[in-house]
Amino acid sequence: MRRTVSDIRSMKTEGKKISMLTAYDASMARLLSSCGVVDILLVGDSLGMVMLGYDSTVPVTMEEMLHHAKAVRRGAPNAFIVGDMPFGAYQTGERDAVFNGMRFMKEAGCDAVKLEGGLVMCGVVRALVDAGIPVMAHIGLTPQTAGQLGGYKLQGKGLDAARRLLAEARGLEEAGAFAVVMECIPSGLAQVITQNISIPTIGIGAGVNCDGQVLVTHDLLGMFDKFIPKFVKKYCDMAPVIKESIMQYDLEVKAGSFPGPEHGFTGQGDYSQILVS
Ligand code: KIV
Repeated sequence: MRRTVSDIRSMKTEGKKISMLTAYDASMARLLSSCGVVDILLVGDSLGMVMLGYDSTVPVTMEEMLHHAKAVRRGAPNAFIVGDMPFGAYQTGERDAVFNGMRFMKEAGCDAVKLEGGLVMCGVVRALVDAGIPVMAHIGLTPQTAGQLGGYKLQGKGLDAARRLLAEARGLEEAGAFAVVMECIPSGLAQVITQNISIPTIGIGAGVNCDGQVLVTHDLLGMFDKFIPKFVKKYCDMAPVIKESIMQYDLEVKAGSFPGPEHGFTGQGDYSQILVS
């Protein structure tokens, strides 16, 4: 059964942890949803780095996000899917935000959108929610504006910064967000925020006391080794498995041992006869 926004919200009140993972294509989405346990699939704009080879999430476009979000929906028809609004899709104003949010819902079949930013984004969040588009907020380390934050580093370290983050979480809750991602903030601060807002917090580098967790699936599987943040736990190391399989395939092709008879097809008759006119 496809989860709803209110299912996700009630997980917090029922004390059930929420698991969210990224997906960018149909085959991974199918695999993830066949496990039957992951609560939310996020078509993250981390797509830009993981799948498209960009150095940051900044160049990712709406067309790229929609292309991948559609694939994820095809692969996981019953999943609760959140589409990540790329840089430039909502910072230009409420009208653009609603227009692009609608595209995620109507064209890609997403259930909600995610956007980065704190108090400055509350108006945009409210406009999206008023237009019927559920919003997941994202505070702390916000990769689209990492340059302004001094790079990919811990946020909310001192008490003033911590107070600001709590105010942002409260403002976003008030604006109508149904959940908030908190990235790369101290675990103690994440716990205080989690206990003092009514919407679920989903942590990444924010400790175990958030209402849920998110990771980039390719990081968890050990498939993306260009940059591995401290908060990533590799549950398996797929890169060497993939490389070994490729080497073995190449070896067998070149030795003439692949394909074997079991991979071929048998027809009817003696095909050398087609050479006789
Ligand atoms: O783009 C993304 O994958 C994200 C998550 C890491 C939260 O924003």
